[in-house]
Amino acid sequence: MTDNIKHLIDRLEQSQTLSREELTLLLECRDQQSADYLFERARSVRHRVYGREVFTRGLIEFTNYCKNDCYYCGIRKSNAAAERYRLSKEQILDCCRVGYGLGFRTFVLQGGEDGYFNDDRLTGIISSIKAGYPDCAVTLSLGERNRASYQALFDAGADRYLLRHETANDNHYARLHPEAMSLAHRKQCLFQLKEIGYQVGCGMMVGSPGQTTDCLVDDLLFLKELNPHMVGIGPFIPHHDTPFADEPAGTLELTLFLLGVIRLLLPNVLLPATTALGTIHPLGREKGIEAGGNVVMPNLSPVDVRNKYLLYDNKICTGDEAAECRSCLQRRMEGIGYQLTASRGDYRATVTN
Ligand code: 5AD
Ligand code: FES
Repeated sequence: MTDNIKHLIDRLEQSQTLSREELTLLLECRDQQSADYLFERARSVRHRVYGREVFTRGLIEFTNYCKNDCYYCGIRKSNAAAERYRLSKEQILDCCRVGYGLGFRTFVLQGGEDGYFNDDRLTGIISSIKAGYPDCAVTLSLGERNRASYQALFDAGADRYLLRHETANDNHYARLHPEAMSLAHRKQCLFQLKEIGYQVGCGMMVGSPGQTTDCLVDDLLFLKELNPHMVGIGPFIPHHDTPFADEPAGTLELTLFLLGVIRLLLPNVLLPATTALGTIHPLGREKGIEAGGNVVMPNLSPVDVRNKYLLYDNKICTGDEAAECRSCLQRRMEGIGYQLTASRGDYRATVTN
């Protein structure tokens, strides 16, 4: 590690603004030594804000119908091989009941962009969850909708919204998505969600086809601009029934490095060690926490639909019951000196201790 890189990491930790050129240098000149230093600084920031707690969110994948056709995604509409399913309201509430018993206090409703789930149906589901579990947070991850819809879902009780921006570079966005989709619209959605009052999460895949250092620097600058409460990042992993079937996966090494950088860039951010990270390496999620992450999102979906919500190949946990995932993760986190918590796990705007 050169003094220069160490200096950049120190300045990031001191909340100084790095220029495009400096961020480029940091990403391009990284080595194992600088990564180790980065992770040490990222952990220290993370411990100051969140201690050794790891927040959990129970993920409910409630529909794999999707009207979009993103080139990377296994549930894109053109994938005729995907076996489609929707959970009923009763099935979703059942997942919450099981999850509540296991200690989950945040439920994430994630699905493709599925017209069946209009505002009426969704507000009914959200208000039932909030009525049954008033001490729980509801996070939505439903893609792009109009402002009135986001507002209606918020008014029904939704607390948070995850909408990964995928890439903050226009050309790269066009490489990953059909023409009908645009980065400008994605960003507009994110700013609207924030204005409405949601805790907002954005994020990107690491190593997606066509991604350059420049794209990643655009991502980091966008993160700074949006200043989200959460950032979801994980490696791109090819899915065999998509146009990107033969593309290489993103690496563990670069994903971890970016987790560390993001922890320093946004010290208070909620940063999950994602399932995709756990898929490309058996200890991916542990390493993600040790690089600065503070959230895990085990699956609460019924086991009989798990293997149908396949965004990428070889996804882990598709055969395991919710209780198994919960205790598995608990063991894994304890193994590296962290503690899974049963709280809502809200964003901490200021340091509490
Ligand atoms: N590899 C990794 N992540 C993927 N996602 C979708 N497809 C893939 C893939 N092939 C991510 C996207 C999306 C999130 C729900 O999953 O970033 O926003
Ligand atoms: Fe699902 Fe380990 S977290 S089996």
